[in-house]
Amino acid sequence: ETNLIRENNGLPLLLGVMGDPILHSKSPAMHMAALQATGLQGSYLPFHVKRGDLRHAIQGIRALGFRGVNVTVPHKVEVMEYLDEIDEGARYIGAVNTIVNDEGRLKGYNTDGIGYIRSLKEEAVSDLSGRKVLVIGAGGAARGIIYALLLERPAQVIVANRTKESAMQLAAEWAHLGNITGCGLEQMGQYISGVDILINTTSVGMYPKINDIPLDSEMIPEGIVVSDLIYNPLQTEMLRQAQQKGCTIHNGFGMFVYQGAYAFEYWTGRPAPIEAMKSAVLASLG
Ligand code: ATR
Repeated sequence: ETNLIRENNGLPLLLGVMGDPILHSKSPAMHMAALQATGLQGSYLPFHVKRGDLRHAIQGIRALGFRGVNVTVPHKVEVMEYLDEIDEGARYIGAVNTIVNDEGRLKGYNTDGIGYIRSLKEEAVSDLSGRKVLVIGAGGAARGIIYALLLERPAQVIVANRTKESAMQLAAEWAHLGNITGCGLEQMGQYISGVDILINTTSVGMYPKINDIPLDSEMIPEGIVVSDLIYNPLQTEMLRQAQQKGCTIHNGFGMFVYQGAYAFEYWTGRPAPIEAMKSAVLASLG
């Protein structure tokens, strides 16, 4: 190819993802497709970085002139210690999944929550303002989603978690950001009536335990929006039950694509080629 765009002082644009495990990450296929569709010369590589090596791996971004990286499990929290600056959203969430290198100055972002919300708005509910939302789970994924959700001015967010205390704690911590209430899973029934959107952020229903469901399906109100962050399988038991009740269903596939799309836009300043990215991920899911 002769007309590839070179952005890194004439060198290829260097990108990658650090995690442990990393072998099955779909990010390299997705971002290589994005680079190609945009006409940028560059590479996005998977790096198997173990816990004790993270500090040095991050130093390596500067030394080698990487424009940016994604960080994934188990590094999203620890990596914050090694950055020069952290975006406000990522600071609230307490986790970074995207690093941008501006001439040696590393800034961390979290694109998971905003990626999820962009996907939810494009595929299921265009306007989240004034909606009542029930989120199951209060872990890392839930924090990202709830933070991004609160920016959309919902009427109320209820966080239901197996460990009730962490849901209560999160609701207290973010009370200044909106109307947020914490409860235990057994209290979900008290809050579910009038809910417009139900979101599962837990791993319940993930492969290989694909028949598990995070709530009694009888509790799901008819005709609402039901979303599961899981994308393996694409259709979880919760979504199957919801569909039978006339609900609009939404899975985590778009979240994965859009968290990558935001990262790509931060690194390159160009609009992410969404369709090319989706096709690459679908192909790699097999
Ligand atoms: P993630 O980054 O995927 O959110 P996490 O931070 O470990 O991972 O959070 C996992 C979430 O799934 C938590 O809300 C967890 O509930 P607890 O806080 O009680 O641990 C929830 N979870 C995991 N397994 C679950 C199960 N079998 N039933 C109900 N909730 C579960």
